[in-house]
Amino acid sequence: MLQSATDHEPTPVHRGRSDGRRRPGAATSEATRLTAESIGILGLGAYAPERVMTNADWAARVDTSDEWIVSRTGIEERRFAAPGETSVDFAVAAAERALADAGLAARQIDEIILATDTPEMYSPDTAAFVQDRLGAREIPAFDMAGSGCAGFLLAVDVARSRAREGGKKILVAAVELISRLMSWEDRETCVLFGDAAGAVVVGPGARAARILAATAGTDGNKAGILGLEAGGTRVPFSLEAARAGLHQKVVMHGREVFREAVRRMSEAATTVLEQAGVGLADVALVVPHQANRRILDAVARRLGLPAEKMFSNIRLYGNTGSASIPLALTQAREQGRFRPGDLVLLTSFGAGFHWAAMLLRF
Ligand code: ACO
Repeated sequence: MLQSATDHEPTPVHRGRSDGRRRPGAATSEATRLTAESIGILGLGAYAPERVMTNADWAARVDTSDEWIVSRTGIEERRFAAPGETSVDFAVAAAERALADAGLAARQIDEIILATDTPEMYSPDTAAFVQDRLGAREIPAFDMAGSGCAGFLLAVDVARSRAREGGKKILVAAVELISRLMSWEDRETCVLFGDAAGAVVVGPGARAARILAATAGTDGNKAGILGLEAGGTRVPFSLEAARAGLHQKVVMHGREVFREAVRRMSEAATTVLEQAGVGLADVALVVPHQANRRILDAVARRLGLPAEKMFSNIRLYGNTGSASIPLALTQAREQGRFRPGDLVLLTSFGAGFHWAAMLLRF
């Protein structure tokens, strides 16, 4: 039985435990240059809301069935935000758990990077609200938006290189609250998604895991196959666009997304294994972006990975976008699916198309 991150009492965050005297930016001015290998994950945590939306709930609203959804995606239920809950609430809940896991207070963090396609508002970015709510110092805090389900690993990769300069401790959060922004009438997309958030602290040391290798790539030629067009300069918000439902229209060419997701997640996984000079047999667990069950099965087949080494929580959480890897990784650790010393491979794919993979040693 997979457990929700909400099943566990978060460890209290000891605000104010740090000296609080360090100047913002002091970490960079110290200009200590570390090697990539000295940067790791210091803590992780996740948050999934209480409210469960089942396939039967969807079948009562749109022309679909439990049988169709399960056979195509493996999803039986997903979590949706409660009315009034917003992206910042999610991100802060996950961040507090990651900070507690890292044994850090919010004031000890030197930077915040937040990946999301469902921000708190159009401007300013979600990271600004998170900095304030956490009680962090006046540090750099910014969003990496629009890279879909690959956003989390891209943000960790950026954090990893920024942490090398001066040994910064960087909070990376990923949050998706897509139930608030998607169309509840488009059966081709609405049944796929769930809401969640996850976070890690990246910095010198390897309190939770060492980052052994990372890769990322983009094929912007496929930008039209998956995305949400309205709201930018190409299709600005307007009454006409809203009447046509464009503000909620997730464009998704399902079969092409399927093909590309399998190919890119497999290739990125192979690349990080090669970079680290290890084989797939050395890996204890693969934690992929939870796109859908059939995609994960196809990636496992293509890699030659035994099914039990492919972690999935898709049945109970659906596709939670950029939050899916930190949510799945946190749950896999809670379930004892890997032990200290084990290699864990993360691989992701999202709108853009972007892809990224990372190899960790816990
Ligand atoms: N319930 C019932 N019928 C549906 C539903 C639904 N929820 N959604 C679509 N259909 C219908 C379509 O209208 C279509 O009907 P038609 O044949 O009369 O035109 C039919 O089902 C399509 O059926 P299939 O061809 O069997 O569908 P397919 O096997 O291609 O599965 C799916 C569709 C699940 C979208 C698949 O293409 C897929 O998994 N693609 C990847 C999409 C994905 O994972 N997106 C997540 C976001 S991207 C990411 O995370 C990387």
